Amino acid sequence: MPAPLLACPVCAQPLTRDGAAFRCVSGHAYDVARSGYVNLLLANQRRSKDPGDDKAMMAARTAFLEAGWYGPLGDALAQAVLADPTAARVVDVGCGEGWYLRRLRQRAAARPLDLHGLDISRHAVEAAARRDPASLYAVAGAHRLPILTGAADALISNFAPLETGEAHRVLREAGRLVVGAPGPRHLFGLRTLIYETPTEHPEVPPLTAGFALLAETRVRRDLQLRDAATIAALIGMTPYAWAADARDRLAGLAELDTELDVVIRTYERLS
Ligand SMILES: C[S@@+](CC[C@H](N)C(=O)[O-])C[C@H]1O[C@@H](n2cnc3c(N)ncnc32)[C@H](O)[C@@H]1O
Ligand SMILES: [Zn+2]
Repeated sequence: MPAPLLACPVCAQPLTRDGAAFRCVSGHAYDVARSGYVNLLLANQRRSKDPGDDKAMMAARTAFLEAGWYGPLGDALAQAVLADPTAARVVDVGCGEGWYLRRLRQRAAARPLDLHGLDISRHAVEAAARRDPASLYAVAGAHRLPILTGAADALISNFAPLETGEAHRVLREAGRLVVGAPGPRHLFGLRTLIYETPTEHPEVPPLTAGFALLAETRVRRDLQLRDAATIAALIGMTPYAWAADARDRLAGLAELDTELDVVIRTYERLS
């Protein structure tokens, strides 16, 4: 049995699998749902009853990702993780419905990986667990990771909130942190339809405290979307889905030229 990676959210002791539950030595127990995920988000850590992305947003993201439009991004993230030949225990924080972890496992081919996905949205984690029984998915927040100190070889954070102090704590010495974030032109074509004067995404300076930047790659592609369902899925998975007026205005749009532009940074954890 692999060494534990998960920590009890109540007492921070290791959690070990015991049939259909995870347990710590203090007697706290967390049931594994029928779909295979475990809920490690305590009621008092939730700011709303149903935090994170809702079902509609998730369904839109699933449809768009599974159509392959972000394939080059999935491959570049996988490559960034696999660039470290010693990385085996990988945690995707804010994993959504697990598409990037599944892509990572495909790209790793025969290399064994111990993959974990955490997300604050129960809907996302449940969908991820159903699709990927080989990985372990848990409901958990990025600000307090239910992971043992120094237990992870690599963390992924793609378009998701990240608490860098927590990332530093859970990574082992020289572990890798792979961060994907929007580049200046990301979805610019879509944003020109929503805002009168769209601006480029501002450049975010690399992390410094506790991490050394090892590599930076920019994944850029023109996306020529030519059917209304795909365009609706893209809008539905972005924050623009919240703006009802924009959504109404763009309803039924059957042609959209926009861009994928994502900056992937790989950091090494410094002691
Ligand atoms: C834009 S989505 C990105 C999902 C996935 N990484 C991807 O790139 O497709 C952001 C994700 O972060 C999750 N999220 C939001 N706040 C969170 C938090 N505090 N802790 C963990 N996950 C969070 C949402 O539920 C959602 O699945
Ligand atoms: Zn405990």
